[in-house]
Amino acid sequence: MAPRKLAAGNWKMNGDLAALSQIDALITARPDPGCDVLICPPALLIQPMKARIGAHPIALGGQDCHARAFGAHTGDIAAVQLKDAGADYVILGHSERREYHKEFDVLVNAKAKAALTAGLKPIVCVGETLAQREGGQTDKIVGDQIAGSLAGLDNNQLKDMVIAYEPVWAIGTGKTATPEQAQEMHAFIRSEITESHGEDVAKAIRIQYGGSVKPANARELLSLPDVDGALVGGASLEVRSFTEIITNTLN
Ligand code: 13P
Repeated sequence: MAPRKLAAGNWKMNGDLAALSQIDALITARPDPGCDVLICPPALLIQPMKARIGAHPIALGGQDCHARAFGAHTGDIAAVQLKDAGADYVILGHSERREYHKEFDVLVNAKAKAALTAGLKPIVCVGETLAQREGGQTDKIVGDQIAGSLAGLDNNQLKDMVIAYEPVWAIGTGKTATPEQAQEMHAFIRSEITESHGEDVAKAIRIQYGGSVKPANARELLSLPDVDGALVGGASLEVRSFTEIITNTLN
């Protein structure tokens, strides 16, 4: 059976306490979303958002965590702290972390292990730059990111995880992968996981697409056979557009 789809909003470094009203609007707009809905706000907002969500079916996630459970790491957040605040997921290895914080697969892998230990579901982001795509390196780059980020994780751990394919050239640019490009990469990622962890795991793991997902293109992207949801940046900041994307995720 295909996994339940996941519509996730990555708020990045946007939003404040006043933005909590978006949660009320989201609940009102789709009290029964019909797919898994996740919001990854700035970490400071997780706890008040959780209080606002109550029993409604909206999950929360962090946007990064440290690989260690505690200690002298000024400015960092541990996975257990995210869990404690009310998160169930954490985004790891986002291309903005890879680029601006020089994160690499070994670190993403250590963070994924810390997240799983804390009871969080990691969303591991992978994706190639435009230069890498144009240089014919896409499969190699994404294949290496998958292998490095998932190294040493067993089948049970993997089933709980999410992979987000986010071509770097499509993030915040308004350029989206064509349905053919998205399907090709999602199928490639699933085949890599089939090879490393077997078919059952590859079928169970959710592979989201991210990169300029908007209400206008969501239906086409989300109906592709290997696309199990969307990781939405800009369009998740507005309840109206995020709700439209959630609606399209159901079909
Ligand atoms: P945009 O939807 O703004 O392109 O961002 C995608 C993204 O980076 C989600 O993690």
